[in-house]
Amino acid sequence: MKRKKIISIVGARPQFIKLAPLSEKLSDVHEELILHTGQHYDYNMSDSFFADLKIKKPTYNLNIGSGPHGAQMGKMLGEIEKVLQLENPDLLIVFGDTNSTLAGALAASKMNIPVVHVEAGLRSYNRSMPEEINRIVTDHVSSYLFAPTINAFNILESEGLKEKSYLVGDISVDALMRHLDMAKLRSGILKELNLEENSFYLLTLHRPYNVDNPEILRNILYTLSLLDSKVLFPVHPRTRLIMDKNQLLVGDQIQLIDPLGYLDFIFLQSKAKKILTDSGGIQKEAFILKKACITLRSETEWIETVEDGWNLLMKPESELDADKIMNFNPTKEQTDIFGSNNADKMVEIINGI
Ligand code: UD1
Ligand code: UDP
Repeated sequence: MKRKKIISIVGARPQFIKLAPLSEKLSDVHEELILHTGQHYDYNMSDSFFADLKIKKPTYNLNIGSGPHGAQMGKMLGEIEKVLQLENPDLLIVFGDTNSTLAGALAASKMNIPVVHVEAGLRSYNRSMPEEINRIVTDHVSSYLFAPTINAFNILESEGLKEKSYLVGDISVDALMRHLDMAKLRSGILKELNLEENSFYLLTLHRPYNVDNPEILRNILYTLSLLDSKVLFPVHPRTRLIMDKNQLLVGDQIQLIDPLGYLDFIFLQSKAKKILTDSGGIQKEAFILKKACITLRSETEWIETVEDGWNLLMKPESELDADKIMNFNPTKEQTDIFGSNNADKMVEIINGI
């Protein structure tokens, strides 16, 4: 096996979590450098994850920050290209479906540097989501596609990409399994917030179609305030900005807090009554933690969790219903959708490249 120089590109909260288990294993065998685009930059959206998940310090932080898609990605492309020219890696790894993912995959593929896409083959079939564009293009320009589920693998096959696809399981599930015990030991968040187990709903919202229009957001929060227990809402900075700008107020039933560190957040998920979310990663975590999940979207890339009966899709504009949320109580035995020890499978494939 050849020792390789590998660059892992990350930029947004869920990518730090996906990077953690893979980076640790890769560093044992290869020279792995981390490049952080700086897409997320607040302490509780970035550095706290490097601390909680013990991820090594990025060799590069491009500090790109926020901005419209074209401008943000344009800056990323130019700066990533410079690093790739300087480092000339054997392989580049990108994760998920953010603008940092696509910028990394495009910059490297234009330079004929092979790209591994971790979490390939996901589709919502909703092209109004920026992530859908990012996924499709990333899958088609990358050289090695790591599918997290059989469904994702089948999608890649249907798009003519089977030759470069590998069914390896889901990497964020590895992160969850590895950190849950530590979270139980270390997190004092339940006490800090004065909450009892199973006495609260945990809510996250950050999708543009749910939060960018203040009327839609107001409506979602109003309906959720009718639930039978408190709703704990760690507010994503995108959502916070809209709420502040529009002076959107919520009643006592909804408790707003800042985004949480990973250990506190997974601990709270494990203790919540139910999970309410539009996040991709949180739908998977809720499933693994055997928590009822209500996904406030009209479709999901993680369709297996819906088919298995543990995830209920609710279109926020027309289907939101507090009674339905309160009455959703899945008990079915779960299918093994995401696999386990998936970082090991990924490293084995990378070793053989
Ligand atoms: C991004 C990803 C999305 C992912 C999400 C995870 C894209 C197109 N979107 O969405 O796929 O699910 O991250 O959380 O890549 N902001 C801050 N501080 C930060 C980061 C962002 O204040 O540290 C604010 C800024 O006002 C910014 C806004 O949040 O304009 C949106 O950030 P951006 O990274 O563009 O998109 P997200 O909504 O975070
Ligand atoms: N998360 C966190 N703190 C929070 C909210 C979420 O640590 O306050 C974690 C969560 O456990 C999951 C990931 O962030 O692993 C999901 O990220 P996000 O919802 O921002 O993005 P998505 O998965 O939708 O792309």
